[in-house]
Amino acid sequence: MNTPRFFKFAVFLLCLVPLLWIIADGLTDRLGANPIEEITQRTGDWTLRLLLISLAATPARHFFGWRWPLRMRRMLGLYAFFYACLHFLTYLVLDQFFDWGEILKDIIKRPYITIGFAVFVLLIPLAVTSTNTMMRRLGRRWAQLHQLVYVAATGGVFHYLWLVKADYRQPLLYAVVLLLLLGARVWYQRVMLPVTMSTRSLAIPPH
Ligand code: HEM
Repeated sequence: MNTPRFFKFAVFLLCLVPLLWIIADGLTDRLGANPIEEITQRTGDWTLRLLLISLAATPARHFFGWRWPLRMRRMLGLYAFFYACLHFLTYLVLDQFFDWGEILKDIIKRPYITIGFAVFVLLIPLAVTSTNTMMRRLGRRWAQLHQLVYVAATGGVFHYLWLVKADYRQPLLYAVVLLLLLGARVWYQRVMLPVTMSTRSLAIPPH
């Protein structure tokens, strides 16, 4: 097995660890006094973490020249969606017992659920169009559509900020990371890219 494939497989296994951890803690009665809340929080956290990690792949290429994170990006994004599904399913099955009326009421009346739900819905087309075939079929529109991942991460941060009642440290930390990632993107497009382009055009000898 060559190194990148082995590395990709290692990342694949690593992304399963939070789920295995939840299962192990569940089986050994270590999910605390409110296991449903604990599972909801852990799956929510991992959704947001993986989204942010996947967003770091492009700046890692622009600023450090690393290409390998780009090869992990799709897997990380799909794992973020996987944890979002688990997060939503925990809420749907364990928390609300499929009480669709209550769920609808929650989505309408509790802003943090409204945002969480909107982000979850937004992640669906991103996951569905993550294949090479869809990438080819959508062409330039694929990149435009996948910019929405920034909207999803921003929504995830607001969802968290909105639900917190006292300790804002963790959601604010996510907000800072997101701002840095957005800042890096803007910096690259506004500052670094124009310089690279003009240097390249100077390097072309005149006719
Ligand atoms: C169908 C959509 C969603 C529903 C119904 C939902 C619901 C919830 C609920 C009930 C909680 C726990 C609140 C508490 O502790 O009292 C929570 C926490 C959280 N959710 Fe969601 N959520 C949804 C989507 C998302 C998405 C898409 C993300 C990420 C992008 C996300 C990230 C989080 C985070 C980070 C937490 C807090 C974890 C912690 O306290 O450590 N959620 N969500």
